[in-house]
Amino acid sequence: MQGLYLLLTVLFCTCFGVHRENFRTCDQSSFCKRHRNLPPGNSDYVVQPSTLKLSKTFLTVNVLNTKNNIGFLLHVYGLKDKIFRVKLVEAQPIRHRYEIPIGVTLVAEPDQEELVYNGESDGQLKFSLGDSQMIINTSPLRLDFLINNEPVTSLNAQGLLKFEHTQEKSAEELEKINNLHSSLNSSDSNIDAIKREERPGWFSSRVSSVFSLISQPFRASKEEAEEGADNDAEAENEAEKPAEDDQDEGMWEETFKGFTDSKPNGPVSVGVDVAFPGFRYVYGIPEHADSFALKNTQSTDPYRMYNLDVFEYELYNPMALYGHIPFMVAHNEKHTVGVFFHNAAEGWIDIRSNMADKSVFSNLADFVTGNNDVPQTDTHWIFEDGIIDIFVLMGPEPKDVFRQYGSLTGNTPLPPLWAIAYHQCRWNYNDQDDVRTVDLTMDKFDIPFDVLWLDIEHTDGKKYFTWDVTRFDNSVEMLRNLSSKGRKMVTIVDPHLKRDDNYEKYTQARNQGLLVKNKDGNDFDGWCWPGSSSWPDFLEPQVREWWADQFSLDNYKGSAHNLYVWNDMNEPSVFNSPEITFPKDVRHLSGVENREVHNIYGMLVHQATWDGLLKRSNYKERPFVLTRAFFAGSQRSGAVWTGDNMGEWSHLKMTIPMMLSLNLAGIHFSGADIGGFFKNPDSELIARWYQAAVFQPFFRAHAHIDTKRREPYLLPEEHMVVARDAIKKRYSYLPYWYLLFYLSETTGMPPMRSLWMEFPSETSIFERDDEFMTGNAILVKPVTEEGQTSVSVYFPGNNVIWYDIESYEVYQGQQEKTVQAPLSKLPAFQKGGTIIPRKMRGRRSASLTHNDPITLIVCLDKHGKAEGQVYVDDYHSYEYREGAYALSNLVFHNFKLENNIIHKGNGFTTKEWIERIIVAGVHTDPKNIHLVKADHSKTTLSHTYDGQAKVLTIRKPGVNVAEKWIVNLH
Ligand SMILES: *[C@@H]1O[C@H](CO)[C@@H](O)[C@H](O)[C@H]1NC(C)=O
Ligand SMILES: *[C@@H]1O[C@H](CO)[C@@H](O)[C@H](O)[C@H]1NC(C)=O
Repeated sequence: MQGLYLLLTVLFCTCFGVHRENFRTCDQSSFCKRHRNLPPGNSDYVVQPSTLKLSKTFLTVNVLNTKNNIGFLLHVYGLKDKIFRVKLVEAQPIRHRYEIPIGVTLVAEPDQEELVYNGESDGQLKFSLGDSQMIINTSPLRLDFLINNEPVTSLNAQGLLKFEHTQEKSAEELEKINNLHSSLNSSDSNIDAIKREERPGWFSSRVSSVFSLISQPFRASKEEAEEGADNDAEAENEAEKPAEDDQDEGMWEETFKGFTDSKPNGPVSVGVDVAFPGFRYVYGIPEHADSFALKNTQSTDPYRMYNLDVFEYELYNPMALYGHIPFMVAHNEKHTVGVFFHNAAEGWIDIRSNMADKSVFSNLADFVTGNNDVPQTDTHWIFEDGIIDIFVLMGPEPKDVFRQYGSLTGNTPLPPLWAIAYHQCRWNYNDQDDVRTVDLTMDKFDIPFDVLWLDIEHTDGKKYFTWDVTRFDNSVEMLRNLSSKGRKMVTIVDPHLKRDDNYEKYTQARNQGLLVKNKDGNDFDGWCWPGSSSWPDFLEPQVREWWADQFSLDNYKGSAHNLYVWNDMNEPSVFNSPEITFPKDVRHLSGVENREVHNIYGMLVHQATWDGLLKRSNYKERPFVLTRAFFAGSQRSGAVWTGDNMGEWSHLKMTIPMMLSLNLAGIHFSGADIGGFFKNPDSELIARWYQAAVFQPFFRAHAHIDTKRREPYLLPEEHMVVARDAIKKRYSYLPYWYLLFYLSETTGMPPMRSLWMEFPSETSIFERDDEFMTGNAILVKPVTEEGQTSVSVYFPGNNVIWYDIESYEVYQGQQEKTVQAPLSKLPAFQKGGTIIPRKMRGRRSASLTHNDPITLIVCLDKHGKAEGQVYVDDYHSYEYREGAYALSNLVFHNFKLENNIIHKGNGFTTKEWIERIIVAGVHTDPKNIHLVKADHSKTTLSHTYDGQAKVLTIRKPGVNVAEKWIVNLH
């Protein structure tokens, strides 16, 4: 839900859309500008090979910046499973530089592996790690990474490495800052004193007056100056280009929109270029509302990585959003490799695909292979603080990169079954009666759902962990009523605490000294939903523990075991602060500035909440917590959604690239608000959105408080039926979804995949993001345009055949084909050669389906073969981690379907049995079909055969899913 809504409707009620001027451009950010303005060329950094120290698994060597004689240490580690870790740190920093502690982003200290030194020649130090090689070019410093001697990644190939060493503020700087202060103090621009009532004035007139007072803090970029119109304030301030190197205005203090960042540590940014020779496409670094294949940023800002609450975000631009993951994947027909930059500060990433322009810097591949037609993507990574700590994941296949990334930052834990079913949310369900009415009306219309959500209005004055008792006087009974149908509730718990002496969570946190401080050392006081608020310091383990304890049934009065949680506004969103978040000089209890750790704050809120729910069940039940802000590692504590989107067709279309990027970067349990958060989408759009979301991982409808009610049963009949069919389809595919989440936890494979992840050598689909795969079996091409009744579908795969999931109509691979898609139709296709489990019995909630029988959908490939898996457990506890589950491999070949048990836990039993087997692609009606069980008993099964569709339906095999059996067709 959106932080700025109230504030901005007052301020900007005449317009709709993002207010770009509230957010910095690269040019308005002195560190970004300093790095971006560096010309490519010879790097100032050289390696001193005589200092090389080797151990079995890592090396250390001195690096010197020859321009200023500052010394650095380069460490390179060989890690298990073909991963290199490159760390560059100051040899003698005058202050500690922040490194993210183990357990926050990295699950553990990564396991090391032998790094073999192959000697020095021609100024190069050569190493190998399995079948990967690394070459350190010493003068200047450049690191090349190769797979079987073919270069795939290179650091500092363009010489853009810049590591701003720690330094003391000079007397001259101090004086400059004092002068600036006195000019500010003489104006009426004391931002701190601004009260809520005054804010309209603050945004409109005060800001521009502050702007005109400060002589030249910013320089509008060329692009902006050309765009002109929406950037009046900044454009007026166009000033001369600052000196290239050490004398930039913004190094020791910087002002944006009248807010001054005190920068006590001065300039401490780091940046380096990362080249991908041989790769035309790179992906990842979510979250941006942009295409899946990352765009060249030559004529835009770089992709920004700074967790922000961006009101009504715009599509197709590189602006920052709610969460960020500094992980990028490069893919071509031969290799897939990844780069993870382990840094929690604000980042910017420039991208150049330089097939066209080689004059800038000659291709690395040219050096090595002599082939000058090889494409290359150059990227430039810039962070405001921290160190250089880069993991290079050598793939070489997509599945390898996902496993490697998961081994570093952790995998998504298997959610309880109900959490991947349908969630009904709105800001707000008003009171207990409203909740009860929605619950009953969904049943009346035969629409299944599992979770009903309450937004901020359910609390007493936005004090989280409380209830507005005039509307929720018996929440425990309300929760019990929901649980009688297996249903759950999710309530919102945001990290800002109302500064109210009668609010226990606040007074406890204040009295125990758990709150984030402002630069002067007092509790930081900012504006959010409840008004004046403070924020617990989630960076501190003991604060996270205190927070986790608040979720016990004793501490969260009126809650129950079927209540789960949603963390919003955790970027954090602060309405009256620069860029609507913590000022960068806010202090955490350990003494670090928010600048050093900004992007992990929201993840730690999420982790602490997750821990709270774990504790509440004594570590027995799987929690569910949804978050808006995230970072690398957030996948370990559950679900993420794409924030406050709009009820527009373009936003429906954008769900695909956004979720593909999140899935690629480890955030597998992700989704977008069905219908769109803002605006009143028409019912056709809502119906189509339900269809598209059936095959996206997190399935929740949500809407803004000012929108018309739009629970699916309120839609006109024609659209209600479509939405209901979509929701029922989701329920029927839950066994497949559950398997995909099991595979996500155990292999790191994303449930939602781009086409190239499944067809890695098919170059024509590398940019494709209007269709996607769910697992390896389902191809989906949602309808994302108004009035559309047919879609053009690209069917990938040489020799692959695809079956329409409803009619079993066949499509050949490697062709683009028009497919009819009337309103009732979601174009989705099962791949020939796969077997999928479904449950076809209609139930009111997923919790009521645990024992239901399974239908197997077998789609044969051109050779009459198919394979698939079924995974079952108790669907809610952690007992599966002790082995209490069954996993079976289904194989169809030679007119025989075999169920082979891969695992069945000691004493684990399930009632789930096979109710029906549908086999598509069968060309003759079999005479007899027999079931042969493990005890060799043989039963004849009845069947029907549709000769036109070539579909065989085998009725009631009646055999348990967790037993070995064979079905023979003759
Ligand atoms: C200006 O005001 C700030 C904050 O109110 C104060 O810290 C600073 O010392 C003042 N500067 C001068 C030069 O008066
Ligand atoms: C719970 O359900 C009962 C009976 O179905 C109903 O009378 C009661 O009002 C419900 N309670 C709440 C708090 O919704």
